[in-house]
Amino acid sequence: MCAGECFLGARDEVPHVRKWVRATLEGQTAFPGGVSPDSLDDVELCAGEILANAARYSDLSADAMARVSVFLIGDAESGFRAVRVECHDPGNVREHVPALREEDAPYATYGRGLRIVAALAARYDAFAHPDGGNVAWFEMDV
Ligand SMILES: Nc1ncnc2c1ncn2[C@@H]1O[C@H](COP(=O)(O)OP(=O)(O)OP(=O)(O)O)[C@@H](O)[C@H]1O
Ligand SMILES: [Mg+2]
Repeated sequence: MCAGECFLGARDEVPHVRKWVRATLEGQTAFPGGVSPDSLDDVELCAGEILANAARYSDLSADAMARVSVFLIGDAESGFRAVRVECHDPGNVREHVPALREEDAPYATYGRGLRIVAALAARYDAFAHPDGGNVAWFEMDV
C-alpha cells in the first residue's frame, strides 16, 4: 500500500521532503498503532540520506524531479510489518550510481550516508532504473 508520494526538484527542498516522509507516516491510518517514535527517527534519518544523495548526485530540475514514495507493508492478518521509502531520481550526465564506497580513512567526511542506511534499515538497495535515473530504497521493520 502506498502511503503517499512527493516530488523533489531542488536541493533546498530536501528538508521539506524529509519532514513530509515523517508527517506521512505519522498521519497514516491504515494500521492502528502506526510506527514507533524510534522507528520514525530511523526512517527520517535514512530518508534524509537518500534524498540528499539524489539532490547531490542527480540532475534535479523543475522538469526532472525525483519521485519519493512511502509504502506501508503489511496486511490484515500479519498487521503492519515494515515501511519502505523509495527515491527515483532523474540520473546524471556523469552516470554515477548509488553504491557503498570502499572503506576509507576512519576520519573521511564522505561515504557515510549509505552505510548509515545499511546499518539501520532491514533491507536496502539501489539500482539504475531501466527507464532512466536511479532508484534508492530501504525498508525499516516496525
Ligand atoms: N542518487 C545517486 N545518484 C548517483 N550516485 C549516487 C547516488 N547516491 C549515491 N551515489 C554514489 O554513491 C556514493 C556513496 O553514497 P554515500 O551517501 O554513502 O556517500 P557520500 O554521499 O559520498 O557521502 P556522505 O553521504 O557521507 O556525505 C556517492 O559518493 C555517489 O558516488
Ligand atoms: Mg550521501
